[in-house]
Amino acid sequence: MQTTIEPQTSFEVTDQGFYGHFGGAFIPEMLYPNVEELRQNYLSIIADPGFQTEFWQLLEDYVGRPTPLFLAKRLSAQIGATIYLKREDLCHTGAHKINNTIGQILVAQRLGKKRIVAETGAGQHGVATATVCALMGMECIVYMGSIDMERQKPNVDRMRMLGATVVPATSGSQTLKDATNEAMRHWINNPVDTHYIIGSVVGPHPYPDMVARFQSVISEEIRKQLFTKTGRETPDYVVACVGGGSNAAGAFFHYLNEPSVRLVAAEAAGQGVSSGHSAATTALGKPGVLHGSRTILMQTEDGQVTEPYSISAGLDYPGIGPLHAHLFESGRGDFYAITDDEALQACFELSQLEGIIPALETGHALAALAKMNLKSEDVIVVCLSGRGDKDLSTYSKYL
Ligand SMILES: Cc1ncc(COP(=O)(O)O)c(C=O)c1O
Repeated sequence: MQTTIEPQTSFEVTDQGFYGHFGGAFIPEMLYPNVEELRQNYLSIIADPGFQTEFWQLLEDYVGRPTPLFLAKRLSAQIGATIYLKREDLCHTGAHKINNTIGQILVAQRLGKKRIVAETGAGQHGVATATVCALMGMECIVYMGSIDMERQKPNVDRMRMLGATVVPATSGSQTLKDATNEAMRHWINNPVDTHYIIGSVVGPHPYPDMVARFQSVISEEIRKQLFTKTGRETPDYVVACVGGGSNAAGAFFHYLNEPSVRLVAAEAAGQGVSSGHSAATTALGKPGVLHGSRTILMQTEDGQVTEPYSISAGLDYPGIGPLHAHLFESGRGDFYAITDDEALQACFELSQLEGIIPALETGHALAALAKMNLKSEDVIVVCLSGRGDKDLSTYSKYL
């Protein structure tokens, strides 16, 4: 695949999959047929009216969309600004991940695929993939780091209950990066009948664009719902956590070209940006290639990927999607590094202020609010990416 780098200022992807200096498809020869088949077909498949009808119907009747936009009054009073929560935690399976898996399984069917392979970190994408595979009667294989299998056990059980095979990834840091490596290897060995459902806006083109399109329903709904509630479609800030960046891409998508809306990304600082145990990619990383795209990633002087760390499995990744690398480099987005402790505290606060137990990943977005120098008249939408049931064993250590 051609991978010329075309600098650009717009936030839309180029034909070759670039956002500014980032993106593209830097893939081994063996992966080329799979990725190329997808690249040549994804836009026409998605544009097909039959696809659109089935996709929107499933989002409504199966996922439970639109998800509410909730005015969090007690949290607003505490922060000193108006905070709305986009309730992706109320999606079927408990996180935004299913918006993408519904879209991708419909693409896979139209490409004539019979099996699905996926990677997962927090297990939410694995559960969302296993769910749509059960729905469509397709075989499902999910790779998951063996450390993540321990810390997100409820999701391992859910995937198995749904009929999926969960394969532990035992290399490297035994987390999301390693699960992604193994899933890609599996796809290379099964090119004809298998589709790889990547769970975030990462990977070679066209994945970042395809996943962002499926998740863009989040900001499409925010615009309408905010208008109904406040008479304006644009908040002052949209805030989301970034692992690979799919919930953030979805929440930002319809605001990308509106500079009056500040886009705020919360990354995982782990035990502290300089602690050696962190996943704060933009603070610590530099440009490089990971999982098929040029992006910002944490690496040693000689380009070896650094093992990331975060208390939240879904943010424990050494890179970010190329769109986010471009938002960072161009200054369009504000990036905050949130420590484990700050995220945990924000999760407890939201639970006790609003009666909503969020996922640990989401806690990073909530913790960014305290760092943003907000004014009392500001309107902020936080993407509440997932619910916290999967994290109860972590939370229970602090009860
Ligand atoms: C609830 C939740 N939020 C956020 C994320 C991070 O993923 P992304 O950055 O692709 O939204 C995950 C990943 O598993 C998750 O489960």
